[in-house]
Amino acid sequence: MNQEKQKIVLAFSGGLDTSVAAHWLRDQRGYEVHCLTIDLGNLGDLDGIRSRGEEAGAASVEIIDAKDTFIRYFIWPALQAGVVYEGRYPLATALGRPLIAKMLVDKAREIGATAVAHGCTGKGNDQVRLDVGVQTLAPDLNIVGTTREHSVSRDEALTYAAKYGITVRQTAASPYSTDENLWGRSVEAGVLEDPWLEPPEDVFEWTKPLNETPSTAREINIRFEKGVPVALDGEEFSPTEIVQQLSDQGGQHGIGRIDMVENRLVGIKSREIYEAPAALILLEAHQALEDLTLTKAQSRFKNTASQEYADLVYNGLWFSAHHRDLAAYVVSTQRHVTGDVKVRLWHGSVTVMGRRADRSLYSPELATYNKEGDLFDQSQAGGFIRLHGLPAQVQAQRQSLTGSDGDLLRLAAPENE
Ligand code: ARG
Repeated sequence: MNQEKQKIVLAFSGGLDTSVAAHWLRDQRGYEVHCLTIDLGNLGDLDGIRSRGEEAGAASVEIIDAKDTFIRYFIWPALQAGVVYEGRYPLATALGRPLIAKMLVDKAREIGATAVAHGCTGKGNDQVRLDVGVQTLAPDLNIVGTTREHSVSRDEALTYAAKYGITVRQTAASPYSTDENLWGRSVEAGVLEDPWLEPPEDVFEWTKPLNETPSTAREINIRFEKGVPVALDGEEFSPTEIVQQLSDQGGQHGIGRIDMVENRLVGIKSREIYEAPAALILLEAHQALEDLTLTKAQSRFKNTASQEYADLVYNGLWFSAHHRDLAAYVVSTQRHVTGDVKVRLWHGSVTVMGRRADRSLYSPELATYNKEGDLFDQSQAGGFIRLHGLPAQVQAQRQSLTGSDGDLLRLAAPENE
């Protein structure tokens, strides 16, 4: 037994790269390596992961099921906040990383490790999220980025694995780089690097192509309490079951495919494909319920906060005071976001068919066009509109909007001749 050996906790996926990393950290860097795999959903073959860690010479391999924690403390707050990066990406991968960082730190503390390691590339966002998470929670721990420090090609990794008897997963090597958890699946690289090229069908694993979706629609009633889904079609389910069911049903109906070019934190534009059926369904339904329960001012301001929130998650600042403050605001906005939303899943789209809230701000007595029961006093409208239009009227008179500046038709498009 070598007393001097420092312990390191490696974020371990069981794939080729982290298996090689485990061996390399032990052999080349002299660490006692402890592999930690966090199951955030869709992890697959747990026994295979364990045995590959052992083959790579890890002193221990631990797999933790963190699905429920992930949903309660990461997914639900993100749903309540309505976070979507650059208008499209529901942030599945980005939301998973701070939890992985936290669990790496917990494990390091438990066994007295002096460092943690991950196999993220040096060009992506994931390294930022893990590093900043660890740096924030445990500034004393060293962070080793095996891939970015010691870049190996796939062939080199395969040769290395063969040399040291590390089994490579039997599946045909995917031409893509993927990441999966309950909230979504991210796919990049390979032919996807050409943004003009239509994604080949083999990119998708969770969602059916439109020509294979059922001809009959599926309607689901989703019950929310304080902005969190609690029941489907009147039946209560655990958070994991709700997300899993909506993911399966949405996928069957071809819902959740996202193809975008996004701006990474490290300054690169990248083409990304996502599959996120449950996220798209829940975000749409949640928004419909907020439409009934928040005032115009609350909705407008929440939208602004939501973009700030999405950037913060994307950029790896989950464990920041700015996040805590924004989250407190979001939680406060959800006090009355309780009610039901009927959604229809059909041919690739999710459509809200109806919504009702326990404390809805929608007032039929004010909205109705029927004379009977109408409580809106139309005689007040004229005066209100005169005052509303007053500044525009005064400005037009004093600063001659209609004067030498010419043609009013061309007001917004002076050059479109
Ligand atoms: N671009 C996405 C993000 O930054 C997805 C990253 C996918 N990660 C991966 N290891 N393939 O969140």
